[in-house]
Amino acid sequence: MKSYNVAVIGGDGTGPEVVREAIKVLDAASKKFGLKLNYANYDFGGDRYLRTKEVLPDSAVGELRKFPVILLGAIGHPDVKPGILEKGILLRLRFELEQYINLRPVKLYDERFCPLKDKKPEDVDFVVIRENNEGLYTGSGGFVFKGTPNEIAVQESINTRRGVERCLRFAFDLARKRRGGKPWKGLKPDDVKAGKKAQLTLCGKTNVLTYAFDLWERAFHEIGEKSYPEIKRDYAHVDATSMWFVKNPEWFDVIVTDNMFGDIITDLGAMIQGGMGIAAGGNINPQGTSMFEPIGGSAPKYTGQNVINPLAAICAGQMMLDFLGEREAADAIEAAVIKTVREKLKSLAAGKMGYGTKEVGDLVAAAV
Ligand code: IPM
Ligand code: MN
Repeated sequence: MKSYNVAVIGGDGTGPEVVREAIKVLDAASKKFGLKLNYANYDFGGDRYLRTKEVLPDSAVGELRKFPVILLGAIGHPDVKPGILEKGILLRLRFELEQYINLRPVKLYDERFCPLKDKKPEDVDFVVIRENNEGLYTGSGGFVFKGTPNEIAVQESINTRRGVERCLRFAFDLARKRRGGKPWKGLKPDDVKAGKKAQLTLCGKTNVLTYAFDLWERAFHEIGEKSYPEIKRDYAHVDATSMWFVKNPEWFDVIVTDNMFGDIITDLGAMIQGGMGIAAGGNINPQGTSMFEPIGGSAPKYTGQNVINPLAAICAGQMMLDFLGEREAADAIEAAVIKTVREKLKSLAAGKMGYGTKEVGDLVAAAV
């Protein structure tokens, strides 16, 4: 029997509730496919911080590094100043565990839940690869004359050749394997004739950020031309990308972008796939410890009311199994989520699903 150690950080607000449902579904899939998941719980989050004044104990990163995967609920507490937990837990883990990819699938499961007119599941089905260790997120910069009328704040975007290249390679690899070698339906006939099978869109801002995205663009074409000739290279500015998410989401297959743009466009992506209740992501270190999470926040006002949608956490669990190489079990969870969404739920929003948090977990587990 294959066995995996999973670190579980329920975190704040509704995090622990949704993680409980994710584990319920993971257990159902494990039973069916003969896997064993060994969970180890960590209490990192706002409550622990308020109690101990410590965001992460010094031993935490070292301990978590021993796990192949982490399942995370949510970080963010109403009594803790914004930034402390996000930087001290979430970003610290992303950086120190070198989770340099943030993988965010944008997939619509039921057209009833898409806010875009006349868009169907086949129109909203792409993946965003967000660089997760650099850009505007490194904390590089500072103040001069802080608190005076002359004050200056500088926040720098860091883009290293190494960081950009490893992100691009991951994106090209994913584009290559995503459709199992079958050509992506959105390709133009000429591209297919030319032997293209998938499309990777670089989302940037080459018209203004002429240093950062110059590096990205050069690396993109160099790597693509040399190592991924069968992948069509496409480029879109971030503002245009946002427009097309709404107007023509079917134009996208795989998108790669920097940390900040990726943060922004994936919230928009979450909305067109049905909302934060269903959107999941993975912070990936292909050679190390990866961390999977629902991408919505901790939703403190819904804590303990059995109303929050657990599907995003359940989908995070699905991504985790997929990452571990348990494709069949992961696909079974996805199929169960689709069935539940299409056949049972009235809405994907908290309190409006027609079922409680636990009941949605039960439905998906039973469908697995
Ligand atoms: C996300 C979140 C985080 C980010 C915050 C909480 C630091 O918005 O995972 O998208 O900006 O990356
Ligand atoms: Mn975000």
